[in-house]
Amino acid sequence: MFKPVSYNFGDDILYIREVTSSDADDLIRFLEAVVCETDFLLTGPEDKPITLEEEIKFINSYYSNTNSLLLCGLWNGEISAVADIKAFSFSRRAHVAEMGISVLKKNWRKRIGFSMMQEVINWAQANTRLSKLSLRVHEQNLGAIALYKKLGFKIEGTLENDLHINNQYFSTVLMGRTL
Ligand SMILES: CC(C)(COP(=O)(O)OP(=O)(O)OC[C@H]1O[C@@H](n2cnc3c(N)ncnc32)[C@H](O)[C@@H]1OP(=O)(O)O)[C@@H](O)C(=O)NCCC(=O)NCCS
Repeated sequence: MFKPVSYNFGDDILYIREVTSSDADDLIRFLEAVVCETDFLLTGPEDKPITLEEEIKFINSYYSNTNSLLLCGLWNGEISAVADIKAFSFSRRAHVAEMGISVLKKNWRKRIGFSMMQEVINWAQANTRLSKLSLRVHEQNLGAIALYKKLGFKIEGTLENDLHINNQYFSTVLMGRTL
């Protein structure tokens, strides 16, 4: 359960709330846009587009799990960011949750990513089962790495040649933060 929150940035408003299945269409459009705007995500425009049924199933998978959360950020009413967190299910890793974030390019550097991540971290801190957050990031995604460091994440390791994008191999950087 996440209580919606609003941030005022001058005349602009960022409203953060949980994604619901009625957002499925808007979320598909959001994902189609962000995968074309950056090479730093795990999926790209070359991947098969997600269907409405798959998207609804994806959204509902967060609701069926009390240790996961899928948030959207509405910038002046438009879905401009999505952040998620999901805990591992096996008991030996159940204290760890993995998170992710993406923001529409036209709204980068407006504190949306930071605010969304901070809300996810606050939610995780209130969840007594969780004691660690982890995430994965493309080695060249220096903006995201800077954002994560600002939020207290540390680099924990590197998976070499983990990503294959446009015929080139890249490493994945593993980052973590205790709660
Ligand atoms: C990475 C991303 C989430 C950052 O979101 P954002 O809303 O633009 O970031 P914010 O405005 O909240 O930035 C907060 C801080 O993070 C750092 N930061 C963010 N983007 C940066 C960039 N491109 N270069 C350098 N630092 C950056 C800065 O320290 C910034 O603080 P400042 O603006 O006061 O200097 C966004 O660029 C994005 O969605 N990129 C494409 C998808 C992606 O890479 N997702 C992460 C996958 S692991």
